[in-house]
Amino acid sequence: MATILELKNVSFSAQNQNIVQNLDCTFEEGKATALVGPSGCGKSTVLKLAAGILIPNQGVVEFRGRDIYKLSRRENLDFRRESAFVFQDSALWANQDLFHILELPLLVHFPDMSKSDRLTRIMEVVEEVGYRRDLYIRPANLSMGEQKLIAFARALICGPHIFFLDEWAESLDDKAAQHLTRLIAKRQKEQKTIIFITHDFRFIKSLADHIIMILGGKMFLKLTREQIDADRDLARYIEMGISS
Ligand SMILES: Nc1ncnc2c1ncn2[C@@H]1O[C@H](COP(=O)(O)OP(=O)(O)OP(=O)(O)O)[C@@H](O)[C@H]1O
Ligand SMILES: [Mg+2]
Repeated sequence: MATILELKNVSFSAQNQNIVQNLDCTFEEGKATALVGPSGCGKSTVLKLAAGILIPNQGVVEFRGRDIYKLSRRENLDFRRESAFVFQDSALWANQDLFHILELPLLVHFPDMSKSDRLTRIMEVVEEVGYRRDLYIRPANLSMGEQKLIAFARALICGPHIFFLDEWAESLDDKAAQHLTRLIAKRQKEQKTIIFITHDFRFIKSLADHIIMILGGKMFLKLTREQIDADRDLARYIEMGISS
């Protein structure tokens, strides 16, 4: 499989703190890669750098061999349409109702879509994630778990090729978390590229083709699923490393 995203010698710092340092890592097209490591090691920062949401202080992020900060406006829009991000804190717009939060990506990326087709698409993704309440309320009226469902629905809405998922199961009950995991597994079967962060070893076992362990803002280990399946000590080491 080809590399779809590559971070080359990427560093990121904020408030005089080096958060990611000289990181080199690649993500394969059509594969699911788990980013793991203890709290505060830099996973969310790496995911945002890979998605072009944070700008590195040093180094290059390439999408299909092209520097994502040198894409034309058209190419950048294509990259945005092909990518979907579920933020760890959901990051829903506080001053919009849920319907408009879900409608905005369609208005940007499919400007010719009719209003009734937008409505149909919104209802499809809302049903798919299992959200059953009103859409004409604002995120502050939702539980953290419900916010995650809407964030997930927003990620699905444009039918992206690359999913950046930052702890999708956080705040959800086990049933809802397993349900979203099945939706991810479905995309995996459709050869979508999935880069995800989790502290739950079950999701690594059920989804990950590759595992990248981050420690202190650096890539510490990159493993394949086969390596973990073949070595119980290694599996236990990863399990301990992600939950600490
Ligand atoms: N904008 C920022 N300014 C200052 N420090 C930051 C900033 N963003 C992240 N950090 C710090 O960088 C470190 C890594 O943060 P990050 O959110 O990437 O960790 P993480 O591995 O995702 O942790 P968790 O598992 O708890 O979500 C943390 O110590 C965090 O406080
Ligand atoms: Mg995080």
